[in-house]
Amino acid sequence: MSVRRLAEDTVQPASFAFSKENAAWAKATIKKYPQGREQSAVIPLLMRAQEQDGWVTRAAIEAIADMLGMAYIRVLEVATFYTQFQLKPVGTRAHVQVCGTTPCMLRGAEDLIKLCKKKIAPEPFELNQSGTLSWEEVECQGACVNAPMVMIFKDSYEDLTPERLEEIIDAFEAGRGAEIEPGPQVERIYSAPIGGLTSLNAPEPAEKKAGRARKAPDEKAISVPPANAAKPKTAADVTNPALKTPATAKKEAAKIAKVEGETTVDKSKPQKKR
Ligand code: FES
Repeated sequence: MSVRRLAEDTVQPASFAFSKENAAWAKATIKKYPQGREQSAVIPLLMRAQEQDGWVTRAAIEAIADMLGMAYIRVLEVATFYTQFQLKPVGTRAHVQVCGTTPCMLRGAEDLIKLCKKKIAPEPFELNQSGTLSWEEVECQGACVNAPMVMIFKDSYEDLTPERLEEIIDAFEAGRGAEIEPGPQVERIYSAPIGGLTSLNAPEPAEKKAGRARKAPDEKAISVPPANAAKPKTAADVTNPALKTPATAKKEAAKIAKVEGETTVDKSKPQKKR
């Protein structure tokens, strides 16, 4: 995993401001949280700033901190923690985040990285010649069952081969990224087995189906007594269901308090002033 730092000063803009539409959205988003908890809006606001400018600038971090009454370092911590936030300019058409954690690595992530190096740029975060594409290696994105996978902006593309990834990258570069269906890139539904179900797939025998649907009209419900599993057998007062609270069993409560060395005080009555 790469070290996540802010971009060099040479590329940082001097200031940040949400567009009129985004400013109204930010105001409404902050209002969703109770008074004094406005800081909870930090992630959606950072994401909106990224969607507006393409990456999270230092000026955006500071502006959002000011909006939420937070120290700059607190917002910086959030922005540098999540790899979903881009801290420097990335490809304008696609930034390909290749998962390089063990399950994806075992299923061919290295070949995907090789392809990105060849097709986009030799180094992570390096832009291709036209500035439209970039890539990086990230940690597990939570789709290990369909490894190997990549994230492009908010969507994941799973069950990849280098050939399929190349097609996807080409589509994004041509501005046709929206045409690619996110998720598994092979014949499977979500994370179901490839090629369909492998168990519980035999057709249900007709008699069994009919038996389940049919219910004898005079069939009586069987009464099942409550289970006593995990209920200790003891005669101790503390397990006596009749003793609900000290108020309903004052004597017993006083007894317990004495044993524990406490002063017996009936808290249900007002105390005299001394
Ligand atoms: S290891 Fe790649 S998504 Fe989890």
